[in-house]
Amino acid sequence: MPSAYYAPLDQPQTSSDDDEEEDIERHQQQQQNKRHQRRPKGAAPSIPFLKAHPHSPMAHLRGSSGVVGGRRRCLLPLLGALLFLIAFCYFTLGVDTRLALGLGGGGGASDDSDDGMHSLDGILSRALNETLHLCSEGLLDRRLYVQDKPMEQYGHLPIIYFVTPTYPRREQIPELTRLAHTLLHVPRLHWLVANDQEGCNMFMDMMLKKFGIPYTHLASPMPSNFRKAKPAPRGVANRRAALQWLRQRNLTNGILYFGDDDNTYDLRLFSEIRQTQRVSMFPVGFIADYGVSGPVVRKGKVVAFLDSWLAGRRWPVDMAGFAVNLEYMAQFPYVNMPYKPGFEEDRFLRSIGLRLDHIEPRGNNCTEILVWHTQTKNKKAAVVRLESEYLDGRSNLGALFRSLKIMGVASASDTEGPKALISKNGKAAAHSTILS
Ligand code: UGA
Ligand code: MN
Repeated sequence: MPSAYYAPLDQPQTSSDDDEEEDIERHQQQQQNKRHQRRPKGAAPSIPFLKAHPHSPMAHLRGSSGVVGGRRRCLLPLLGALLFLIAFCYFTLGVDTRLALGLGGGGGASDDSDDGMHSLDGILSRALNETLHLCSEGLLDRRLYVQDKPMEQYGHLPIIYFVTPTYPRREQIPELTRLAHTLLHVPRLHWLVANDQEGCNMFMDMMLKKFGIPYTHLASPMPSNFRKAKPAPRGVANRRAALQWLRQRNLTNGILYFGDDDNTYDLRLFSEIRQTQRVSMFPVGFIADYGVSGPVVRKGKVVAFLDSWLAGRRWPVDMAGFAVNLEYMAQFPYVNMPYKPGFEEDRFLRSIGLRLDHIEPRGNNCTEILVWHTQTKNKKAAVVRLESEYLDGRSNLGALFRSLKIMGVASASDTEGPKALISKNGKAAAHSTILS
């Protein structure tokens, strides 16, 4: 496996590929100590996510104290290199990318130049070939009532950041529609929908806006080298993008939950996870061979895990089986979700320094199933033979098929697919009879 698989979101990776042996917590501690020791007196601790991409036009806004102080001799060559980078970036990155890399404004962030980590950080994200676009955002909750109560009654509750990775396929819009109608019943929720697609899907923008739930729509495609892998790291680029979004906004108040687009969520799940102090855990139904995966609880404490696939994971849980308090997560500057299929949960939970005695069992001491790992049968989008001359305003079919095409569900063709069967009085009718 390439070491890039283990690259933290914001930290240069120097360790070897041997992740099984890797002790992320220790590594983090070492890095933290190192950074602490090298930081000049009075300098603010760095927040890596907030840094501008070194190849972005924002890079020149970075705090300059580290560069100027004590390195005057290098000033000219450095300035030259910086100008070159800015020009390079300007001409090679797309507008969206440039905007996206400046998400949340990295300019005021403190500098890491004291330990030389800032440039590596950018090189890595380039090596991973990750791109991130903010497509649209609606911060206002336009719902008047939730669960028969006026919205004001929920004002005191912490916000749940519900992160949904999604990807273009025939089932995408129906899955998101179903999920949206669950989330519509949940107060104080921000829906982070990260789409595994290069560009922004405008249909999805409109759709998300219409629900009236606060949302953010990100385009966070899986880097192409990972897409070729079997199995591919599904939903990872998306979740990494959402983590970046949270960190860039310095959101340290609220609850983080990773909710895939195809799962089934009981409304009680949301009231349970909202109480999370550090990390909550609960069983997930329909996982692998046992039909379930989750913690083993004794006397109100998590003591072990039940899951049919161990593979050396310290935290053998499903992505939908835990929630994290953002204030707790903020203590760990190197939060990571690696591109490592099957190990995302374990490595993420390691990166936030989880300890067994910190886990809060939910769902009546993990006796209830509040989330199901349902899976939708994937099928190819249909192609139907239906002459384009009839797909005008004379019937509904033109508009209907245009919309089905946008949603990736079905398309009409003049030459391909089975002929569209249109009937009247129980008998097949010629297209011309009905539509001309
Ligand atoms: C299981 C886990 O429940 C996921 O959390 C985990 O990401 C996944 O395995 C994995 O490690 O591969 P599973 O039902 O097998 O989930 O996978 P999917 O539902 O197909 O994908 C997980 C999420 O990633 C979904 O929200 C899906 O929309 C998204 N995804 C999937 C992408 O963004 N891109 C893809 O190419 C495939
Ligand atoms: Mn799934």
